[in-house]
Amino acid sequence: MELTSKLPGYGASIFSVMSGLAVKHQAINLSQGFPEFNPPIELQEAVADAMRKGRNQYAPMPGIPELRELLALRINEWRSVSVNPETEITVVPGATVGLYVALTALVRPGDEVIIVEPGYDSYAPVIELNGGVVKRANLKVDALQRGESPWPWEEVKSLLSSKTRLVIINTPHNPLGCIMEADDWKHLVDILKDSEAKVLSDEVYEHMVLDGKQHISVAQIPELAHKAVAVSSFGKTFHATGWKLGYLCAPSYISVELRKVFQFLAFAANTPMQVGAYQFLLENPDYEFTVAQLMQQKRDAFLKQLTNPNIEWLPCQGAYFLVADIGKIATKSDADFAVDLTVENGLASIPLSAFSKLPLPGTYLRFCFAKNDDTLHKAAQIINQLTGLINP
Ligand SMILES: Cc1ncc(COP(=O)(O)O)c(C=O)c1O
Repeated sequence: MELTSKLPGYGASIFSVMSGLAVKHQAINLSQGFPEFNPPIELQEAVADAMRKGRNQYAPMPGIPELRELLALRINEWRSVSVNPETEITVVPGATVGLYVALTALVRPGDEVIIVEPGYDSYAPVIELNGGVVKRANLKVDALQRGESPWPWEEVKSLLSSKTRLVIINTPHNPLGCIMEADDWKHLVDILKDSEAKVLSDEVYEHMVLDGKQHISVAQIPELAHKAVAVSSFGKTFHATGWKLGYLCAPSYISVELRKVFQFLAFAANTPMQVGAYQFLLENPDYEFTVAQLMQQKRDAFLKQLTNPNIEWLPCQGAYFLVADIGKIATKSDADFAVDLTVENGLASIPLSAFSKLPLPGTYLRFCFAKNDDTLHKAAQIINQLTGLINP
């Protein structure tokens, strides 16, 4: 028997493949983007406490009110905006679900959606499931390497048409670690000034902006905020990716539509974690600021140990990924190199080509540095020993 696939051309995600390979070969796993350490103990206790206190039944569809109120207070203070917790914040079971909800609510058959690649892998299939047409612009990896803005604004502009329903932005960016600076937002404002297109801004790494720079959310850009959805992830912010909790922030006329879809997808996110998140954030008003400090320390410690003269590391301004230019030592594709590195050398990464349908200017691997110091040390030793070709 055969079923006509609704997603032809898509197999198991590269994250499952590389993590599976890492387990099989007992390799150090810097492939999938998850921390090796636990969420704060007070947060774990708060969730357990919520369960013990009987907060185990359905939450209200858009999320428990006290959590939404606290989130709105924080967003409004950090970003100098005025988000309404009742009508503009929707708590969801993770950002992936949030993206699915937003794309399903916004994209109609035949609509065009502009994405930039390399990019997170869930956008394109969900656009296609909704009958949308993916339009790809190429992030300029070589410009990033030179320390310039990699955002391909000319290309985005040329892809814009009367059919463009949405532009998807991801800042801080997975996999490249670049961020949208004020000038980049200005470019986007200018490109969209006469367009009906909405903006979907994936900001799951919003609390991991490094080197003293500030995250700029789409919510802070008045010309875009009124037609934008911002996506956040507690999984990333709490070092608890397995908890699958996040939220969407959008003006009420969009949130109404997001909630219509969400109520038939999941109805609500899980209750004890929402209660725990609320309690923990209430008691730790500065928690989010510690996240960037931790990631800065991880990135710097890792980079300091990476001394292989044949490998160049791309600048990383945010998120928890470092991208290596392995062009000088690789004679094969990044995908084959990543497999060999896992199997032969015991270190799992993700080939950058997995994030892009369009060709890249070189050969690159992405490494997640949200790992324990010992793991990063061992990984650096392996990378430093890569003097030539693996398995030539
Ligand atoms: C850019 C980006 N968006 C969304 C997600 C999904 O987040 P969540 O685990 O909350 O579903 C990830 C996870 O890796 C990501 O890197």
